[in-house]
Amino acid sequence: MSRVIGLVQAKGGVGRSTVATTLAGELARASSVALVDCDMPQGTALAWGNIRRRIGRAERLAVDTARGQAELEEKVGRYRRTADYVVLDGPPHVGEMTRAILALADLCLVPIGASAAELWATANLLLLVEEARSARQFDLRIVWTRFRGHTRDARDLSAMVSAALTYRSLEATLGYRGAYASALGQGLTAAELPDTQARREVAALVDEVKRIVGATGEHPAPDPQPRG
Ligand SMILES: Nc1ncnc2c1ncn2[C@@H]1O[C@H](COP(=O)(O)OP(=O)(O)O)[C@@H](O)[C@H]1O
Ligand SMILES: [Mg+2]
Repeated sequence: MSRVIGLVQAKGGVGRSTVATTLAGELARASSVALVDCDMPQGTALAWGNIRRRIGRAERLAVDTARGQAELEEKVGRYRRTADYVVLDGPPHVGEMTRAILALADLCLVPIGASAAELWATANLLLLVEEARSARQFDLRIVWTRFRGHTRDARDLSAMVSAALTYRSLEATLGYRGAYASALGQGLTAAELPDTQARREVAALVDEVKRIVGATGEHPAPDPQPRG
């Protein structure tokens, strides 16, 4: 059975496409993945996918776009039958598309960086989340990104969020690292660059997401032949 993971947030530049492309690229190592760019014409995930295909790293990865709710519903319906994971990269506002993602995803991830503006944007988003949850249960997690746990700002903000939001956060956090920005531009994931910390963060992110939605469609190496 296929798992649908949506990246939503009401503000641009928070890391939705970074998390979406990272998950899509990493999950596609062992499973089939469809990454749907729902933020057209921005098209960050689409551009990343095009580069990734050109460099020969998109073997189990399909990259597609959806420009409206009906197209998204139709494509998710189709990919649910053909892909192990469907990753939806959402737009930077609360509207029809974000609503559609909240109605379709098994797990919604909400990236927040260390800025008050992102916290305010999240407050707008959460009204939609409540609306979606009154219709249907699904998992939702805050993802701390550009995380600088040692700075006072990050600590204050994180305490503010814990107090203000009743939503759970992923244990995995993404730090503020050049590897995320350069990976995005090269059609890679940060785990494919020589940054040990980023690799560790990405591995923890992918493991935790799999644990929440339930790993699916992995193609483990066959058992060794019995001797005799
Ligand atoms: N953890 C991070 N550390 C450093 N730069 C990041 C990080 N996450 C995202 N970025 C950079 O911030 C910019 C916006 O990220 P992006 O994922 O495109 O945001 P969104 O899709 O929410 O608009 C990009 O240039 C990206 O490379
Ligand atoms: Mg984006």
